[in-house]
Amino acid sequence: LPTHYALPSGDKIPSFSELLVDLGAWQAGEGEVSTAVKVALQAGYKHIDGAWRYENEAEVGQAIKESGVAREDIWLTSKLWNWFHSPEDVESALDETLRGLQTDYLDLYIIHWPIALKKGTYELDEALTADPYPTWEKLEEMVDKGKVRNIGISNFNIPRIKNLTANSLKYKPAVNQVELNYWNPQPELLKLSKEHGLLLEAYSPLGSNKQVKETLQLPEVQAIAKELNITPAQAIISWHVQRGTVVLPKSVTPSRIEENLQVFSLPKGLFQKLEEAATSHPPQRVINPSKNYGLDFDIFDDYP
Ligand code: A2P
Repeated sequence: LPTHYALPSGDKIPSFSELLVDLGAWQAGEGEVSTAVKVALQAGYKHIDGAWRYENEAEVGQAIKESGVAREDIWLTSKLWNWFHSPEDVESALDETLRGLQTDYLDLYIIHWPIALKKGTYELDEALTADPYPTWEKLEEMVDKGKVRNIGISNFNIPRIKNLTANSLKYKPAVNQVELNYWNPQPELLKLSKEHGLLLEAYSPLGSNKQVKETLQLPEVQAIAKELNITPAQAIISWHVQRGTVVLPKSVTPSRIEENLQVFSLPKGLFQKLEEAATSHPPQRVINPSKNYGLDFDIFDDYP
């Protein structure tokens, strides 16, 4: 299986040795994020996927520093929160993230949601939601300034991708980070993304804490685990890499962090069985904060 994928910039992004630190201070116990980051880096993880919104960038930054792993040996991703899409807010939001992480550049900076909210509120900024290009231009400027090496998007569906890429972009989005799991495998988005050289990153790859148990008990997953003598989580994580996506499992449990680092090439027949099972039931999105953001439309509905 591929250990890395090449991005348009020429940079190589790790495909599986990564940890999503989507655990805010209110979700993780004291020191849990810090321990998770250190355990991951010491186990050989190469990619830490964070966000301003997770409210733990200072803890992540401190843990990276204390791990003793060199900055250039880590792929660091962060995300621009919905409050900071106005071009005049992008650079200060990025600077705050850089300060928290104790670094002077990110490997990847992503628009967290295709939804712009007025700063500090749940009031929609309709103009910047309808047209993210002014935000994107500012991100391009951040590349030219050397503050970020690659820029991307997250939670963009096909119409929204087309809406952004219809502009003549200086830099194309390098990745689109979206929910991908057994329940919501998004085969059309995956196919279109591959055709356009847009790499997908899978968040909630195990079905998130809401559905991880059900995922690991699926007969197709159990069959792979048994055949290859690996764990069900390893079977799922391997399936994602074999589909050609970056996979971002989330765990604060040291033994699972270690477990999730191992991927295995699945025999074609078993891979195909799992792929068919995943794509033949009606898709069910596990993560959808449209209501939490006070929106009167669904972020994932066709748009505009
Ligand atoms: P925990 O953080 O307590 O270890 P996803 O990556 O799809 O968002 O899923 C995250 C959920 O899956 C978390 O509840 C996490 O629990 C759990 N999890 C992560 N890795 C494993 C694993 N190898 N086996 C079982 N559960 C796991």
